[in-house]
Amino acid sequence: MIGEQQSEKKLAGEEAVKFIETGMIVGLGTGSTVRYTIEKLAQRIHNEGLEIKGVSTSTSTTALSEELGIPLLSLSDTDEIDVTIDGADEIDPQLNGIKGGGGALLFEKIVSATSKKNIWVADSGKIVSKLGAFPLPVEVVPFGFRQVYNTLKSERFNPVARETDGKRYVTDNGNWIIDLHLGKIHDPVALESRLNGLPGVVENGLFLNRVNTVITAKNGSIKTTVTSNN
Ligand code: 5RP
Repeated sequence: MIGEQQSEKKLAGEEAVKFIETGMIVGLGTGSTVRYTIEKLAQRIHNEGLEIKGVSTSTSTTALSEELGIPLLSLSDTDEIDVTIDGADEIDPQLNGIKGGGGALLFEKIVSATSKKNIWVADSGKIVSKLGAFPLPVEVVPFGFRQVYNTLKSERFNPVARETDGKRYVTDNGNWIIDLHLGKIHDPVALESRLNGLPGVVENGLFLNRVNTVITAKNGSIKTTVTSNN
């Protein structure tokens, strides 16, 4: 028996596979919701003969895809991805969001920018009226970490260096993460531009105007929301 949140993740994650057709190049996101997508995709490959190639966004997704027999393509070997399916940490009514709770924000953003269509899959707890309660991840080059941290602190962004088991969290790219405890983000566009303008910042977890379709689930029902975002 899985809990309510896991059951929502499973319903939403598996539903997204309906958008995948033979011949597609598919961006594979990272996290516990998209894990259900990847597992379902593997079932369709093995049971129905679905032919796709995946582009992975993290070492964990690469390992899972290889284990399940999903053929992978390196991002450097393709100019375009047909559709990317990924999770999110917060999603607002405009389908803007925060990602990077799992630390894969840089590759996730590059893959989403390469993708003609982007789908997010999420449990109902990820839907918010305004972004910012979830700490916003900022990926930083270790060389400039102290300077970026000090600037973020002086600008009252409430920075916290991410750690796991008492040690500095290191991304797949060898960078470090600072989580900003903002409460509410009033102007996400201005914030994204300010953060990415700081020397040493590689990327931030704001995903604005990137997602076309969000699939969530609640009380056993699936809800698919579509916008005209590119
Ligand atoms: C990883 C992410 C994840 O997609 C996000 O954290 C959601 O994860 P989950 O599906 O486990 O709730 O952005 O960098």
